[in-house]
Amino acid sequence: MQSLVEVKDLRVGYGGREVVHGVSFDVKPGEVFGVVGESGSGKSTLARTLAGLEKPSGGEFAVHARSVQMIFQDAVGSLNPRMRIRTALEEALYFGGPPAADALFPDTGSLLEAVGLSEAVLEQYPRELSGGQCQRASIARALARQPQLLIADEPVSALDVSVQARILNLLRELGSRFSLSILLVAHDLAVVRNICDRVAVMEKGVFVECGGADEVFSNPKSDYTRRLLAAVPRI
Ligand SMILES: Nc1ncnc2c1ncn2[C@@H]1O[C@H](COP(=O)(O)OP(=O)(O)OP(=O)(O)O)[C@@H](O)[C@H]1O
Ligand SMILES: [Mg+2]
Repeated sequence: MQSLVEVKDLRVGYGGREVVHGVSFDVKPGEVFGVVGESGSGKSTLARTLAGLEKPSGGEFAVHARSVQMIFQDAVGSLNPRMRIRTALEEALYFGGPPAADALFPDTGSLLEAVGLSEAVLEQYPRELSGGQCQRASIARALARQPQLLIADEPVSALDVSVQARILNLLRELGSRFSLSILLVAHDLAVVRNICDRVAVMEKGVFVECGGADEVFSNPKSDYTRRLLAAVPRI
């Protein structure tokens, strides 16, 4: 099967300081690929590079998707402060023409319902919403035109557990029903384990481990993964 994303020895830096030191992987159609690792390991840099927002300093990557959307780690900052949520969503829905009659999300109402937001938010500005509401609005905006590839950087980090589960189930379902591929960056190992097919563990700019999610979490090969797993608080 042709991969949707192919990454080979990718290197990225800021002002000459390299922070991603040659990572290689691929994402298949319909696959949810997770990237975990502690703060500063280079996850967002990798995600932003694949979205075309940072320029690699070495290696190569190819994205064979007709449409790519990104959910940013900073959901509030990614929404235009001068735009009501209605406008932000309509802009996304109508991008390139009106949505098809049989589209999964034909209007703002269907989008809001998918992410569990009420219609009241439509008239509000991002600053009037909570962090979690902004996060859901930005997820809705990214899903509006049913992208083929979703690059999601900590998409559920500001949400409480029940809303998290709802959004993750939605993503999972879209993945299998509409062959949406997802590159999911998350620090929460439970989140990753729940919805990812494969997972890469990133430490200081390199992948120390990569494989099936169940395999990586039940039988970690690297000390770093074992330490990450041991650091998960148990309630
Ligand atoms: N715009 C930037 N300019 C300069 N350095 C940056 C920039 N963005 C990130 N870095 C540096 O690159 C390294 C990796 O950062 P990155 O944001 O990719 O990590 P991360 O794994 O996403 O962390 P977190 O889990 O905290 O979001 C860090 O040392 C960070 O300071
Ligand atoms: Mg990050």
